Amino acid sequence: MHDQAERLRNKLTPPKKQAKTIAFASGKGGVGKSNTALNFAIELQQQNKSVLLFDLDIGMGNIDILLGNRSKHSIVNFFADFMPISGIIELGPVGLSYIAGGANLNDLIDLDEEKLTYFFDQYNSLAYSYDYIIFDLGAGVSSATLSFILAADECFMITTPEPTSITDAYSVVKQIVIHNKELPIHLIMNRCHNMREAKQSVDRFKQVVINFLATDLVHTSLLPDDKVVTSAVMKQTPYIISAPRSAISRRLKKIVADFLVEDNETKQKSTGSFIEKLKQYLVVQGNDK
Ligand SMILES: Nc1ncnc2c1ncn2[C@@H]1O[C@H](COP(=O)(O)OP(=O)(O)OP(=O)(O)O)[C@@H](O)[C@H]1O
Ligand SMILES: [Mg+2]
Repeated sequence: MHDQAERLRNKLTPPKKQAKTIAFASGKGGVGKSNTALNFAIELQQQNKSVLLFDLDIGMGNIDILLGNRSKHSIVNFFADFMPISGIIELGPVGLSYIAGGANLNDLIDLDEEKLTYFFDQYNSLAYSYDYIIFDLGAGVSSATLSFILAADECFMITTPEPTSITDAYSVVKQIVIHNKELPIHLIMNRCHNMREAKQSVDRFKQVVINFLATDLVHTSLLPDDKVVTSAVMKQTPYIISAPRSAISRRLKKIVADFLVEDNETKQKSTGSFIEKLKQYLVVQGNDK
């Protein structure tokens, strides 16, 4: 009863604080960032949070494809036609809001000063409308991608057990720590075949971060290699919806539950204005080039 009242209150009262921003990133491409970000976002929404999933893989985004929804507009139109940001928000499953990244390579956009200023202004109109804004970033770390990671309140770094993927993830973690040691970093090892070996591998990763970067990861978790992911991609229905009791869905739900517990404990919704931080890091990254 109490739970129900609480849920109703959450639905009726719009969030007043700035949305907490979470960046999903990886060193190597194709490790499962988009699938993990999407299913994570859906599960958060299912836990009565209002969530916006922002596909920032501009020109190569695939969130709308994973949802089987050909979006009318994407971030590409936003930058090319200076559309209002509210006009490119689509409604996904269980009430999840999302912004598609656009799928036409020819539409790749170079973010000049004018476009960035427009993005800063428009983003501010979103910041108070959601509990969480999740960025699905493109593979690798261009200076713009790194700035988005650094400006976010938290980062989920996705890797697979492959040594190449782990080494690339470590390079990104190192870049993050050099510029913003305070940023909470979660590590998810995806596509694990042998959970025991994978656990040893993430523990080693954690130890290397402690020894060489003098900081720690907030959390490490494992997601199995699971055929429901491929079948969810083929069916264009996220696995958390099409196979909620599968091994990967159960693990992902636990990751979201742990995240929400930690979030409640710290009671800290956001570590300051995302846009102010983004501006600062874009300048630093620009100067580093
Ligand atoms: N846990 C898993 N089990 C089995 N297959 C998986 C798993 N995670 C991802 N895959 C496979 O990997 C493919 C790529 O996943 P996804 O698009 O999420 O990666 P990505 O990191 O976002 O890629 P990119 O760097 O290109 O953006 C999926 O289409 C799926 O076939
Ligand atoms: Mg992706």
